[in-house]
Amino acid sequence: MIRRGAMVKMVVIAALAALIATLVAVLIDWLPESASEEMDRITFVYWFATIICIGIFSLVAAVIVEAVWAFRVKPDDDTDGPPIHGHTGLEVAWTVVPALLVIAIGVVSAVVLSKNADAGSDPLRVRVFAQQFAWRFVYPGDVRSDELVLPVDRGVEFELESADVIHSLWIPEMGQKQDVVPGVTQEIVITPTRTGRFTLICTELCGLGHSTMRAPVRVLEQAAFAQWLEQRGAEGEGGGAGAGSGGGGSGGGTTTALGRETFASAGCGGCHAFEPAGSDAQIGPQLDDLAAAAEEAGVALPQFVRQSIVDPDAVITPDYQPGVMPKDFAESLSPEELDALVAFLSGEEGTE
Ligand code: CUA
Repeated sequence: MIRRGAMVKMVVIAALAALIATLVAVLIDWLPESASEEMDRITFVYWFATIICIGIFSLVAAVIVEAVWAFRVKPDDDTDGPPIHGHTGLEVAWTVVPALLVIAIGVVSAVVLSKNADAGSDPLRVRVFAQQFAWRFVYPGDVRSDELVLPVDRGVEFELESADVIHSLWIPEMGQKQDVVPGVTQEIVITPTRTGRFTLICTELCGLGHSTMRAPVRVLEQAAFAQWLEQRGAEGEGGGAGAGSGGGGSGGGTTTALGRETFASAGCGGCHAFEPAGSDAQIGPQLDDLAAAAEEAGVALPQFVRQSIVDPDAVITPDYQPGVMPKDFAESLSPEELDALVAFLSGEEGTE
């Protein structure tokens, strides 16, 4: 039997170990402040598992420290230890208790996973297009944005598609994380619980521009979101009907602005250097000398630029490889965006 003194020592050691582990768990901000229902549940699972771990850790620490101290070998003691044939009760306990704890963690995780996949009865559906190295978001009514704007307290169901390689969507404060796999439409649900600004981060190494593949996230009150969506939709249509009648400003300025915006939102600056856009990326050919390239290809400049965007392998710049640039810009960009981008890259001031 264990002596009473040893028992007291072990309880003290266990209490100390539990205190230290608890301080490490509590005093350090391991997780960002939650901003979604899903993150609340994920945080609960973290704490559930952490509390179990602290319990096991203190028990093991107490037994190890006491055993090392009480059964240490005396100087000049060359004898073998006493023969021990195990302890059935102890062995049953250390098999059954961990099994129950692991099953409990498994059940809690399964319940949370299933709840986190449920978008509720009236979800907002947002399509997400990922490509090297940019995110684009398409809302109901074909409203497009390169900023992710969400309403608070409403389930949002994301449909994720990738144009090239595997990316991964993650907004740290909202917990949920999902790989975006080419050829497959992945889904994920996020229900924001507070308004504010956040950052969507690509969390799968996807190429040289991976670390720049971020998008701003803004969570608004529901009324403000509805207003934003309506305004954003009207702007899109205005651009289509002709820049002059669009969202204000002179015609030329609007086209240039849309071209510049598209250059940023479509991720062109992730790979290409282009001085007017302030980008100096070195992954793809630089775009400051397109007139010379068009002349060499024997095509008019705007035509050459358009072809290079929608069919990037048609003409390959020397020293660069085909198959690198995404081929889906004809689909992922609206016709107005494509026109504006071509104008912007061709150095046109924009059309009236
Ligand atoms: Cu996309 Cu990393």
